[in-house]
Amino acid sequence: MTISTFQDTVNAFVLSKKQVQKIIDGLTEELVEGLSTKDLKNITQQPSFITHLPTGKETGLYLAIDMGGTNLRTAAVHLLGDGQVGVTMEKHEITQELKTGTGEAMFDWIADCTATLLKNVAVDMGDSQLHMGVTFSFALHQTAVNRGKVLAMGKGFDLSNVMGKDLKDLMEDGFKRKNVPVVVSAIINDTVGTLVSHAYVSPSTKIGVILATGTNAAYIERACEVSKYEGPSCDQMILNTEWDAMGKAAYLPQTQYDKDIDAFSLVPKFQEFEKMVSGLYLGELFRRALVDLIERRALFEFLDGQVPELLTVEKSFKTLFMSTIESDNSSEHAAVARVFKTSFAIEGLSTKDCSKVYELVHAIGQRSAVMVAAACTALLYKANGSSVHLDDPSEITTIGIDGSVFEKYPHFSRSMMNALTQILGADRASRVRLELARDGGCIGAALVAMVSQRGGAV
Ligand code: BGC
Repeated sequence: MTISTFQDTVNAFVLSKKQVQKIIDGLTEELVEGLSTKDLKNITQQPSFITHLPTGKETGLYLAIDMGGTNLRTAAVHLLGDGQVGVTMEKHEITQELKTGTGEAMFDWIADCTATLLKNVAVDMGDSQLHMGVTFSFALHQTAVNRGKVLAMGKGFDLSNVMGKDLKDLMEDGFKRKNVPVVVSAIINDTVGTLVSHAYVSPSTKIGVILATGTNAAYIERACEVSKYEGPSCDQMILNTEWDAMGKAAYLPQTQYDKDIDAFSLVPKFQEFEKMVSGLYLGELFRRALVDLIERRALFEFLDGQVPELLTVEKSFKTLFMSTIESDNSSEHAAVARVFKTSFAIEGLSTKDCSKVYELVHAIGQRSAVMVAAACTALLYKANGSSVHLDDPSEITTIGIDGSVFEKYPHFSRSMMNALTQILGADRASRVRLELARDGGCIGAALVAMVSQRGGAV
């Protein structure tokens, strides 16, 4: 499609019913294919080695870390039973230098952060080693509940000496180098952590989703369907879908801006679904569309086709700015003028410019909500009849969702629910709940560490 006017650009982000159905069908096909493929180049549908959800009655004190795309969280998690948890958590930003440095430097730093937590919370477990659950927001090929080889890292990470290595070894080597007395008892993906921890407080939870720097989901699958699984026999298994990496069969409605983001990323042709919907990319998507519109004199005409320098910098337009813009839906959209003045030194926007920017921002945010709702639909359909019962009026399916985009982007939850109602129909959609699942990574990791240290699977 050749995009020529401002409206064409906006329309390129508005999905038709047919496009949404194509996404659902394409993702469903990849979910099925991922169950059997043993080719590790296909990182989807990874067994977590976790076979049950918690009961809410688990108790004990465990350490947890959650390594995300932006921050590292270290935590002492006190499971109190009755779905109650006490958490002491510390947050550290992962610098660009760490993200693109050596694995050793990264795991030394993680050990230092853990030592700081231990000092601050004065955890006393006698002479015994401390058990830790680790949530890792990247793809792993797990071979046990506490072992997994690092398969791939997106979100701007480029660590040396890490790919293909076992995360337990990488972490424990760091702890040894820094004399921190910790053993890794469980390793889980952040989506698995979200599912497990939200089920602890809200037992109807059957799907865990992350919508943050990156995106992904976990759900419960019948073990007999997971033919690639090679572990102790079980009836069901939590799978990490890695839906971020799906979209290979060209069913994703990519605009030229999406294609450019992918082409200029650290790893092109990887995580194309994620690059269309998650927090690391939404702002950049808007920036690319805006630059194109300015150059074509279809927006900010007073600039006469000249793009101000600050706007030419990749990722300079943060997704946070889109949230700020969307949260002001007054007719003047004064937030638009404020963002451009404060962060890009651009002044002189007319009310018309402001409302056009608002419209474009809204279309990009809305597309993300619709695509994530479509992906949730593919999972709901896949699990329907086993862990999910969409047609049983007495059954509620809760989707626990963690992440800045879901939590902070204005009306995201409502937009997702509207899309689900259109796709599933009002009856089925009324049996689906979208719930914010905060800090799931650390709590989920602690829960899984507890059960696996006691010799069971959650
Ligand atoms: C990673 C997933 C992770 C997701 C959300 C993706 O980039 O590959 O493992 O669950 O981000 O953090």
